[in-house]
Amino acid sequence: MADAGPAIEVKGLRKSFGNTVVLDGIDFSVAQGAVFSLLGPNGAGKTTVINILTTLLGADGGVATVNGFDVAKHGAEVRESISSTGQFAAVDHLLTGRENLVLIGKLRHVTNPARTAAALLEQFDLIEAANRRTLTYSGGMRRKLDIALGLVGDPAIIFLDEPTTGLDPESRNTTWDTIRSLADSGKSILLTTQYLEEADRLADRIAILSHGRIAAEGTPQALKSVLPHGQIELHFADVTQLAKAGQVLADRHPGRSEIALTLTVSTDGSVAQVNRLFSLLETARVEVATFAQKSPTLDDAFLQIINNHNGEA
Ligand SMILES: Nc1ncnc2c1ncn2[C@@H]1O[C@H](COP(=O)(O)OP(=O)(O)OP(=O)(O)O)[C@@H](O)[C@H]1O
Ligand SMILES: [Mg+2]
Repeated sequence: MADAGPAIEVKGLRKSFGNTVVLDGIDFSVAQGAVFSLLGPNGAGKTTVINILTTLLGADGGVATVNGFDVAKHGAEVRESISSTGQFAAVDHLLTGRENLVLIGKLRHVTNPARTAAALLEQFDLIEAANRRTLTYSGGMRRKLDIALGLVGDPAIIFLDEPTTGLDPESRNTTWDTIRSLADSGKSILLTTQYLEEADRLADRIAILSHGRIAAEGTPQALKSVLPHGQIELHFADVTQLAKAGQVLADRHPGRSEIALTLTVSTDGSVAQVNRLFSLLETARVEVATFAQKSPTLDDAFLQIINNHNGEA
């Protein structure tokens, strides 16, 4: 362990692939013992951040330190401080769960690979399946084994890239429990996810990655307070009505679909606000054919946060 500074510190990190700017100067910091979640849609650059921090990929600019070590200058020390569980499970399917763990133990030069494997199998409730080829494991069991593999050698900092994507709800819950108990044991964890709910449940702090930048960062509580609580989707009979409604509601920046003939307006979820919306339209003699209330998606949350962000600038 280097010092009492942050587990991970990222300043002005940049990365492009050809002409595609993926990271356009991002900053964040993960305190020791904290769970930090990087939240973003497909292609936002989450895996790219993890690849840079785990020294698989070089950055174009900026500075990143892991456990106090500069990833660009002290790769070996960084690799000794971390474990990384990739987005695509790194388990060898021809080996049993136990053999996979022993193999990694040998590669990482732990003192007693067999004992380490046994302890992790126990911790992850994989004893019964331990001597079966992982080919026969369910997706959830594989993911558990994958996380266990990352813990061989007792690293201080754990990277988890979308640990629950593709899992069924039960396996997802088990994985969440696993991550929470790792957090309780004092590990520092950087977790990426596409799911707001996952970040909300597990993370002490969340950063939202969007268009190469951190669009918002804070505690789940603070971030949720700026998210839209719901949306009203208004459906119109024709483009004339759609256009009129678009003018009436212009200052609310509705999402607009000319094809579906809909406007989508964010609300704070209050009846008063929904009432005001409809009375504005009625006063302007706009006919709404139908309407529906929608729960906010992650994309809505991003849009809202980015709009707020631009509004302040
Ligand atoms: N080696 C590469 N060469 C070219 N482009 C790349 C490479 N790696 C990533 N990219 C591009 O960088 C962008 C970010 O990719 P990245 O994998 O970091 O996103 P992500 O947030 O992890 O997405 P997902 O949620 O789908 O895993 C994408 O547009 C991707 O196509
Ligand atoms: Mg990814």
